[in-house]
Amino acid sequence: IDMIKIAIMGFGTVGSGVYEILEKNRELINRKLGEDIEVKTILGRRLFSENDISKKIVKEFEKIEEDPEIELVVETMGGTTPAYEYIKRSLLAKKHVVTANKAVVAAHGTELLKIAHECGVNFLFEASVGGGIPIIRGLFSSLAGENIKEISGILNGTTNYILTKMDQEGSEFEDALGAAQEYGYAEREPEADVEGYDTCRKVAILASIATGLEVAYEDIYTEGITKVDKIDFEYAQKMGTSIKLFGGMFIDDGKLYSYVCPMIISSSDPLYMVKSVYNAVMIEGHTLGKTMFYGSGAGKYPTASAVVADVLSVFKKNNGFKPYWSEERAYVEDMDKTSHR
Ligand code: NDP
Ligand code: HSE
Repeated sequence: IDMIKIAIMGFGTVGSGVYEILEKNRELINRKLGEDIEVKTILGRRLFSENDISKKIVKEFEKIEEDPEIELVVETMGGTTPAYEYIKRSLLAKKHVVTANKAVVAAHGTELLKIAHECGVNFLFEASVGGGIPIIRGLFSSLAGENIKEISGILNGTTNYILTKMDQEGSEFEDALGAAQEYGYAEREPEADVEGYDTCRKVAILASIATGLEVAYEDIYTEGITKVDKIDFEYAQKMGTSIKLFGGMFIDDGKLYSYVCPMIISSSDPLYMVKSVYNAVMIEGHTLGKTMFYGSGAGKYPTASAVVADVLSVFKKNNGFKPYWSEERAYVEDMDKTSHR
């Protein structure tokens, strides 16, 4: 059995989740790929209590860049410096790159995709929008035949968690933010979440994919949730509504409009049901009408799951979308045709 060797840059919430999933799901991955994946090297700034992880830690990026055995690099450091430079150098060294980093993708995605294309490698970033929700693949493949007219939704787990706690439990903003940080939902600088910048970058990524236009995140009107007060929820509740941070885009008369801001939402709107760390995005296509993507928007395992899916898609033999199953690959032996739930 062949062994594919990869590296992880940044061993925090998401990076360690990717490592754990690859370890725990070794058998499943082998069954799906016919090959094993080994994390050979981890770029980190400190050692870890588990000896087998600490042995893989390097402090110099060059040890990854110059290692011909490493075929793919996962970037989960966050921020643009040095993540952008390391991603670019990895691609130029003809290594595939998978990232969860929306700051890098929103600022440099077009350039990095071009470099990846020229170097004959993949640059994948499913986890950068909506955590574990397969929204980027959805836009690129399942909705490829659509002109997208509108995208709108809840794209930040931290703020949705905070607003849900304020609405349902009367929590203080700071307490709810502290809990979101503890759960690993928040960005290192939580201003990115609460001021709406994280949502803004996700909107830029989705709008760019949907329209083909290179949408600059700096051009998107962005307002966060720091001015939302408990009293606002009291009024919202009296009207049978709630408050959520929305991000989106729409096309009107051939022009693109995009925004990030808190909005009042009626209890009859399907997005009203999206609570806690969950995200949801409604997409309207010109022939499809509306469709909705919903799921875990942040957190260690949902996000790492999307990263791992990108890693597997690089090494799958039939990289195009070719539905296929065979009983040889089944993980159940038989079906009980008599039982009902
Ligand atoms: P963390 O802060 O938990 O992890 C980042 C890790 O990278 C830390 O261990 C940090 O080390 C390390 N790191 C940072 N810079 C360097 C460097 N120069 N050299 C070596 N190691 C470095 O962040 P997350 O895991 O939460 O997020 C990672 C990325 O994933 C971000 O881009 C984020 O936006 C994205 N993301 C996160 C989600 C989530 O739910 N957490 C969801 C979707 C995307 P140290 O601890 O020493 O500082
Ligand atoms: N901080 C981000 C959030 C992580 O809360 O949604 C997922 O992108």
